[in-house]
Amino acid sequence: MAAQTHPISEPEAKTPEKSSELGEIDLLLPLRSSGSLESPYPIYSLLRTVRPHLEMKVPGYDGPGVWLMTRYEDVHAILRDPRFSADRTRAPLVRDNLERLPAFVQQAAGGLRTMLVMDPPDHTRVRKLANKAFTPRRVEALRERTEAIVEERLDAIGDAERFDLIHDLAEPVPAIVIAELLGVPAEDHRQFREWSSALIRALASPNVEDRVEQSNQASQKIFGYLAAIIAERRKAPRDDLISALIAAQEEQDALTDAELLATSNLLLLAGHETTTNLIGNGMLALLREPDQLALLRAEPERIDTAIEELLRFDGPVQATVRVALEDVPLKGCVVPKGAMVLINIGAANRDPEVFAEPDRLDITRSPNPHLAFGFGTHFCMGAPLARLEGRIAFDALLRRFPRLSLVDETPAYRPNPILRGLSRLELSTR
Ligand code: HEM
Repeated sequence: MAAQTHPISEPEAKTPEKSSELGEIDLLLPLRSSGSLESPYPIYSLLRTVRPHLEMKVPGYDGPGVWLMTRYEDVHAILRDPRFSADRTRAPLVRDNLERLPAFVQQAAGGLRTMLVMDPPDHTRVRKLANKAFTPRRVEALRERTEAIVEERLDAIGDAERFDLIHDLAEPVPAIVIAELLGVPAEDHRQFREWSSALIRALASPNVEDRVEQSNQASQKIFGYLAAIIAERRKAPRDDLISALIAAQEEQDALTDAELLATSNLLLLAGHETTTNLIGNGMLALLREPDQLALLRAEPERIDTAIEELLRFDGPVQATVRVALEDVPLKGCVVPKGAMVLINIGAANRDPEVFAEPDRLDITRSPNPHLAFGFGTHFCMGAPLARLEGRIAFDALLRRFPRLSLVDETPAYRPNPILRGLSRLELSTR
């Protein structure tokens, strides 16, 4: 198939008369147009072969466009290269067109920045402080509690003939765990879910005004809610992560109030969308490969390598963004200074140069150097927690339900090409 005739080819440059006619910039366009939500991997594979570095120019903008990277070698190299910044506002495309960009990018530019979009030395300072609070001891202490939460949820399903894995288990478990860890009332977990979904829906809505309005409303509610809890904990600290973050802030006077709020918010949101999708995407993959599911049932001690393979095979975070701070030569191209780079983790994790038979689910795969949690400076802080939750959820599900099967062979996805996950996953227990 000629690349020019395929939707992945660059959109034709338009030359509108006035800048107000240019419309909003969709930074995710290269990803959105590179395949269906149900199965983006065949197109990723085509891209990796014919156009491993795909530049999409932004209509009406002469500067560097958005580059989509699909090869493992490039993704891995960019994630650990300090010549690529995580601060999206360092791209001229963002700086020159702020009013045409989604609200969350505008917010980041306006000062409410999390460690996810910071570079050293700010990133080092904030991450070090968050790490002091988010310790391995604190995560390990959650094991029993997580097991209990999973059991409660499975008890609620009881001996129902069918259940929705997403609604009944995959959404509530990580949301309750992260809420308890942070010290925000766990009974509000459906509320957080609603706010974070509103934020995410807002990013995906086709109507720009709705999108800005919805995402602003949701973030105002989340921030208001968290600010009130932070104020309470300042007066009366408890044994929770927010109190530990406050202590770290006061001890060293090194975390601003805005950073404390942004960090709490990041942990609350990053802590549930993603693990929900590990459980949902992972279960779907296992049910579609009965041999692998049977192997895991027969040898449950394989759970750790199985989780890594599920993360590689259909990961919850498909991409992230960096900005080139100078011209950077990669094999076969030079990424120009100022370019935004869309790093396709999902494609890298299926690269045959690194993974033998990459489209096959193999729960015994080892080594498995997947990039589902990123790599280098911004490597996922919550990886130990996500792995713990995943292990406990899959263990318990397979033990409780010896005959799980799919009710719908083609379940629907949430319309988000970055946070890849199902809206429902109806399972039969008989
Ligand atoms: C299976 C579940 C998860 C996946 C696949 C995942 C994936 C990722 C990825 C790919 C990044 C790097 C982004 C980048 O380089 O731009 C990241 C960063 C991060 N994740 Fe996760 N995540 C998961 C669960 C969690 C959980 C449970 C938490 C917290 C409780 C969390 C907190 C964070 C934080 C704070 C960062 C930012 C680290 C930094 O900028 O230094 N994640 N995650």
